[in-house]
Amino acid sequence: MKTIFSGIQPSGTITLGNYIGALKQFVDLQEEYNCYFCIVDEHAITVPQDRLQLRKNIKSLAALYLAVGLDPNKVTLFIQSEVPAHAQAGWMLQCIAYIGELERMTQFKDKSAGKEAVSAGLLTYPPLMAADILLYGTDLVPVGEDQKQHMELTRDLAERFNKKYNDIFTIPEISIPKVGARIMSLQDPTKKMSKSDPNSKGYISLLDDAKTIEKKIKSSVTDSDGVVKYDKENKPGISNLLSIYSILGGLPIHEIEEKYVGKGYGDFKRDLANVVMEALTPIQEKYYSLIDSQELDDILDMGAEKANTVAKKMLKKMENAMGLGRNRVGGGD
Ligand code: TYM
Repeated sequence: MKTIFSGIQPSGTITLGNYIGALKQFVDLQEEYNCYFCIVDEHAITVPQDRLQLRKNIKSLAALYLAVGLDPNKVTLFIQSEVPAHAQAGWMLQCIAYIGELERMTQFKDKSAGKEAVSAGLLTYPPLMAADILLYGTDLVPVGEDQKQHMELTRDLAERFNKKYNDIFTIPEISIPKVGARIMSLQDPTKKMSKSDPNSKGYISLLDDAKTIEKKIKSSVTDSDGVVKYDKENKPGISNLLSIYSILGGLPIHEIEEKYVGKGYGDFKRDLANVVMEALTPIQEKYYSLIDSQELDDILDMGAEKANTVAKKMLKKMENAMGLGRNRVGGGD
């Protein structure tokens, strides 16, 4: 069975972008793959975090992974910092990564732009992401489009390591959804919907209530020609809303366009709010039943145990390949 790995940062509210670009894909993939899904808390501390809020976000994200339909008997769900091999392997991969290639990452450029104090972790984040993936012999990584560059670097680092030391890593492929690989901000449809957007009107949180969702969709930025039609270049706002409608409502875009011929944006937005709410209600119900449960802790304990067992084995191979540690008297090389 092929292996999948993916991670999400517990760095704020989980948005409809995270759901459509990543989480929703995971649910289908769990049937056919050996899946590892991770709450990447060590990635979250590359930027300042409030400790209590971070702890809350970690649990919240864990509950959401399950609430969207992941089955803990089929997938391994765990917290990155509970599997120390990630940080250890991340360090080794940092030592084969070049500063120049890390500085070229667009996410690093975006997140560091205009800031006086930028953590070294923000720069060395991609080798840690590579470690996450490579430790599990991952074949496929389902992510949104914004992770493409990090994935290319992961493949480069794996190939470099295999060539330089020993051929131990599988070279992972990236899997990006056909529709919804990049859900845009509701307030600025030229920017991606982001959980770190200071303006909460730009994103829909998976935990927003019906009223909030209606308000956010109603006030979303569109255009003035009043025609519900997909045209990414000239009508980015409506096109983004159409993508969301299509994915969550399970209708092809052209059928939605036909449905709203002669109708205005008001009708379209009102119906879209209902479609979104219908998709999110069962997720929210499951979330609230899990968030304070012992079951959630048990699932995370089980996940960490399994992930540790697998990751430690690959870490050992990496150490051997690089010559870390020592030979014991009478031992092998
Ligand atoms: P993160 O936490 O920013 O996002 C989690 C996942 O959601 C996707 N995503 C989106 N998809 C569509 N439209 C959007 N507006 C949108 N915003 C986010 C992301 O592409 C991602 O799939 N570096 C990663 C976390 C990570 C990781 C990994 C991922 C760490 N290690 C190993 C895969 C494998 C990140 O910051 O994702």
